Amino acid sequence: MRTEVAIVGAGPAGLLLSHLLARAGIESVVLETRSQEYVASRIRAGILEHSSVELLTAAGLGERLRAEGHEHRGIYLQWPGERHHLDFVDLTGRSVWVYGQTEVQKDLVAARAAEVVYDVADTRLHDVGTDRPYVTYTDAGGAARRLDAAVIAGCDGSFGPSRAAVPEAARQTFERVYPHSWLGILADVAPSTDELIYARHPDGFALHSMRSPTVSRLYLQVPNGTDLADWPDARIWDELAKRLGHGRDGWTLTPGPVTDKSVLPMRSFVQTPMRYGRLFLAGDAAHIVPPTGAKGLNLAIADVARLGDALTALLRGGDPTLADRYSDDALRRVWRCTHFSWWMTTMLHASGDPFDAQLQLSQLRWVTSSAAGATGLAENYAGLPIR
Ligand code: FAD
Ligand code: DHB
Repeated sequence: MRTEVAIVGAGPAGLLLSHLLARAGIESVVLETRSQEYVASRIRAGILEHSSVELLTAAGLGERLRAEGHEHRGIYLQWPGERHHLDFVDLTGRSVWVYGQTEVQKDLVAARAAEVVYDVADTRLHDVGTDRPYVTYTDAGGAARRLDAAVIAGCDGSFGPSRAAVPEAARQTFERVYPHSWLGILADVAPSTDELIYARHPDGFALHSMRSPTVSRLYLQVPNGTDLADWPDARIWDELAKRLGHGRDGWTLTPGPVTDKSVLPMRSFVQTPMRYGRLFLAGDAAHIVPPTGAKGLNLAIADVARLGDALTALLRGGDPTLADRYSDDALRRVWRCTHFSWWMTTMLHASGDPFDAQLQLSQLRWVTSSAAGATGLAENYAGLPIR
């Protein structure tokens, strides 16, 4: 089989890239190890930046998002005894939208821009340093296949093979592992808040998010290695109530039936460069952020917007300028988001160290009382322009 762009991975990065390329008249084939049902039902991110919403809308993917998503003006930041609202619209003129990654994924599948081959195995990338790269894989029926392409886009997330296809001598990796994880739940209950609450508490961070007027998404900081068996639903709700300040100033947290429960480890990771020869990396294949700033999905969307432009200029116009700049340009945003996600994580998670705790409180007081501090957080959270 031959195509113009072989895309490895049908997550949001891979599917959106195939969609943007199709709109520019460029053919692609997407290879995915998981089944279509699995990919469509994975529960992950929930917040879209202003620029992500603009990009999805411009790409013809905004209709359901604008009808069923919810626009938020900002977030609440709190610590015991205090809750403050940061209004991003007042501060920066930009809002964020609550619209689950699962829904973005469904919209991309419905748009069906390219052929997606699900249930593949043994995906391997070959000759990426030459102008004749190809991918081999085993299809769902067990047959060995080969896909030749002008370019390969590695959009295969944090565990895919693409990033390791860059020769070791040509790549550099940067990593930070955190001593905590998040325990996340999805619950069939109306959110107890109109906008997200990020709460610092001496016993650990808590986040009250949501998916819809009837579905809440909440997270608790837990130690690495936490076993879900130790966290029955009642314990989770008790801990959330304590950390989120149930009962204070008349605010209450309403518990409800938990429909999903998982533990997510946290790390920061960047591999540079994001391009090697005819291989371009995008999204989690190139970088991972801890979830505290809600950046993972948005960064994948920003990479792919840039990569779509670069591949269109390269393959349609024969102009390599944007492709040659792709890695440097994308990495500027990647490092900004890597810093913001690290900073939010560091400011809000309990480490047990009293010195850290005082610095965190000082920082929280500053971002909630100074226009400069608040605007800096708002600008990063609502997101900088993509292009
Ligand atoms: P992915 O969504 O990981 O997609 C990569 C795709 O490649 C997958 O479908 C995978 O099956 C496929 N693949 C892997 N190996 C191969 C192979 N060998 N061959 C073919 N295909 C392959 N971000 C937030 O901002 N907020 C959150 O709350 C949040 N929660 C998260 C929870 C979890 C459990 C995880 C894993 C991530 C979470 N993230 C969150 C991060 C966010 O979901 C990711 O940043 C986003 O999915 C990145 O999109 P992507 O397309 O680059 O990668
Ligand atoms: C969600 C996840 C995040 O990491 C975050 O910072 C905000 C919201 C969510 O899943 O809704």
